Amino acid sequence: MTPSPIVERAGSHSSLAITHIGELVTWDDDQPIRRDAGLVIEDGRVAWVGPSADTPSADDAIDADGRAVVPGFVDSHTHLVFAGDRAEEFAARMAGQRYEAGGIRTTVAATLAASEDELLRLARRRLAEARAQGTTTIEIKSGYGLDVATEERLLRIASELTPETTYLGAHVVPDGWDADAYVDLVTGDMLAACAPHARWVDAFCETGAFDADQARTVLEAGMAAGLQARVHANQLGFGPGVQLACEVGAAAADHCTYLTDADVAALADSGVVAGLLPGVEFSTRHPYPDARRLLDAGVRIALATDCNPGTSYTSSMPFCIALAVREMGLTPTEALFAATQGGAWSLRRDDVGHLRPGARADLALLDAPSHVHLAYRPGVPLVSRVLVAEV
Ligand code: NIG
Ligand code: FE
Repeated sequence: MTPSPIVERAGSHSSLAITHIGELVTWDDDQPIRRDAGLVIEDGRVAWVGPSADTPSADDAIDADGRAVVPGFVDSHTHLVFAGDRAEEFAARMAGQRYEAGGIRTTVAATLAASEDELLRLARRRLAEARAQGTTTIEIKSGYGLDVATEERLLRIASELTPETTYLGAHVVPDGWDADAYVDLVTGDMLAACAPHARWVDAFCETGAFDADQARTVLEAGMAAGLQARVHANQLGFGPGVQLACEVGAAAADHCTYLTDADVAALADSGVVAGLLPGVEFSTRHPYPDARRLLDAGVRIALATDCNPGTSYTSSMPFCIALAVREMGLTPTEALFAATQGGAWSLRRDDVGHLRPGARADLALLDAPSHVHLAYRPGVPLVSRVLVAEV
């Protein structure tokens, strides 16, 4: 049995040298992957990278003993704050039932019934689970409240856990509401309450959720309030979400499971990052997104968990990497890149997702000689130690 990984704050050492790194992934342009490397951290930042034998001394030291070191994973899409689960719904799907967006309302009811303390406790537990699997940057959305007070509460909880918080009042139209009246609320009082706690605004643009006009109204109102846009797009079928994301200049169009050639071209031309969430296809039995097609067209891709109780109840980036390699046409190196640098692009961050000097010292040591093992040894808890820079 592998012991639980140690998760520690890199800033707690004023300087720290890691030597004998069997394989160090930095994504540096000249030498993206080094063998027998060393790395020095000072004040929570990468200060030096080079051959192990030349590693400058520091206050503290870790001997990696041939293990691989990779940038901490950047999970650019999660719905971590909710109560209850939907295991029965999952079991029914595995027996042949289709996924429908309406299941979101089940989680809304459970979330409304939970106290703020309980929601925070549950979200912290899921965050600890993600951290132990190497995730060091995480985006968290609201969207299981759907009323002003609860959406605001979910965002307050999320912002205790991450700066990457997303207002997703436009997740689904709550029971008993007219869609346009609900959009008025989402762009009015709810936005005013939520914007102070959010960096991003998102909308689920899909049949059964919000159409293109409604989603555009929500995104534009959010942007006018100072938030940046990201979109749930083309998850359950072909549709307008990706084009909308490109038109409004969103950072990311997430899901991208059903894409026309025009959608792929729009992503490539606009630079909008395509967020691929294979945990969803695993749990809904939809076809996996074609990552190879996107890369070949010059689209920037990110890999994320979409951790949520309906379509993807996994917090594991290594699991998503393994799926992306096996089912989506990526090499292990491309999948790791999408799970680190790709996530950073999706969140418009240049300080995470890589380990070049200056980066935040967010990294994972693997109990393996190379990152290839993340896909080669699926389901095995290879992350043995995680360093997270002080925020
Ligand atoms: O990203 N697509 C919309 N939202 C979630 C599903 C939420 C749910 O079913 O509870 C997703 O897949
Ligand atoms: Fe989602």
